[in-house]
Amino acid sequence: MALIEISTLKHHPINEEIYSLSNIDELAKSIQEVGLLEKLIVNADFEIISGNRRFEALKRLNFEFVEVEIKELSKDDEILYIISYNKQRVKTKRELLNEIKHLSNIWKQKTGRKSKDEMSSNIGTQKTRNKISKELDVSTGNISKLIFIEKTETSFIELIDKDEISINQAYLQCVRINADKQIKKNTTDKSNNNHKDKIDIDYKIFHKSSHSLNEIDDETIQLIFTSPPYWNKRKYTSKNIEIGSEKTPDEYIENLVSHLLDCHRVLKKEGSFYLNLGDTYIDKSLQNIPHRVIIELLKNNWILRNTIIWKKKNYLPQSNKDSLTPSYEFIFHLVKSKHYYYNQIKTPTKSENGKKVKPSIYHREVEEKKLIRKTFTPYFANELKNLNDFWTDDILETATFNQVSLKKLNISIGHPAAFPIDIIILPILQTTQENDIVLDPFSGSGSVGECALKSQRQYIGYEINRNFIELQNKRLQQIISKKNI
Ligand SMILES: C[S@@+](CC[C@H](N)C(=O)[O-])C[C@H]1O[C@@H](n2cnc3c(N)ncnc32)[C@H](O)[C@@H]1O
Repeated sequence: MALIEISTLKHHPINEEIYSLSNIDELAKSIQEVGLLEKLIVNADFEIISGNRRFEALKRLNFEFVEVEIKELSKDDEILYIISYNKQRVKTKRELLNEIKHLSNIWKQKTGRKSKDEMSSNIGTQKTRNKISKELDVSTGNISKLIFIEKTETSFIELIDKDEISINQAYLQCVRINADKQIKKNTTDKSNNNHKDKIDIDYKIFHKSSHSLNEIDDETIQLIFTSPPYWNKRKYTSKNIEIGSEKTPDEYIENLVSHLLDCHRVLKKEGSFYLNLGDTYIDKSLQNIPHRVIIELLKNNWILRNTIIWKKKNYLPQSNKDSLTPSYEFIFHLVKSKHYYYNQIKTPTKSENGKKVKPSIYHREVEEKKLIRKTFTPYFANELKNLNDFWTDDILETATFNQVSLKKLNISIGHPAAFPIDIIILPILQTTQENDIVLDPFSGSGSVGECALKSQRQYIGYEINRNFIELQNKRLQQIISKKNI
């Protein structure tokens, strides 16, 4: 410890690079009232490692001497100390980004990946990212988004700091900016046939991530029916744009909700959005992920009309002896406006002879053992009751039949999480009319596409796994050829 003349001290250059010296007057006032509670820490050159704001306040208060502790550290350790001493501080996103860059330079350099003076906007391996996330107590998802935003449109960081735009809004905007740049680049590339990306439907499948739906104009989709990958279940690709492989449920929820932002833009005001989501256990505790996602979506202007229980017929048997076997999933019906299109479908309860019956569309198909018809006929029976929100065998029995019929058509589904197509038919009949466009941003094997085309609707799908693209194209092409016979 030493008593040093204030005029010999200076700000640490790294501190100046990372942090702004804000709220000095307040700090000076508090030092005046209660004194200097913590000593300053400086290096051998009297550059301040801890206490840069206090130093500024002391100067304003005309202090001449101050007690300091001198610490001899390597240059990298000085930076780590500076960041660590600022842990409790309320930081702007700009300051956070500065910290991220410095930490990444140090840690990447330690693994021999980067030269010291290169301040890259790419922070390298997942391991480095995780380490930074832990050190700064910020999710890896937000770290990636901030870096991406800064790289694409750096002025957005200041708008986020002024609370004029959220990280997710800025991120989505940047995704669009990048996609626009890509489209412009493609237009000037003579070898690129631009027509291939135009939507000229019956159906169109895009082999790309659906985080931005740039190919679709605002408010053109009547129905979105989708099932994103659930958290921490299957891995469909090795790509890091894949949803579901985030480190924690919190990251998954944040990522998925921001991923789905563009769905709100493309959906018509009178449109509907059906979202199927499953839950996951951590250490024997269910994480309640579906409802947590919905709570976030409601903050993004969605209206929740129904939480449908899809009682699965073929659920996975469980061997554990201390809990029930999960046998249902949620399907959430969301809308954008209270005035959405809805075609109330009734269910028959009893036939003439008093026995329970299934809705006629399915009934007829099963009895005649025929393939699904070209057009689905909704079963309207005014005197009968409205469909309820607990979907059981009435709907699912025919799913088995439809899977069989697909096999007969020699189409193998080939997707580990394909929908039974019957759970899609009712929403299509309820919320769309012929020729409307149906979208599945996680298209998989194209089950939603199949239902849409068979019910004379049009279809757009997004999928990142190339194998599934081929599978869907084959499947949907077959339906189109049959329709044209
Ligand atoms: C649960 S599966 C959907 C299955 C589909 N409903 C069906 O019936 O076949 C989720 C799909 O989303 C795809 N996927 C994952 N991340 C994606 C992304 N960022 N953009 C588009 N598709 C993605 C996966 O490859 C997978 O095929």
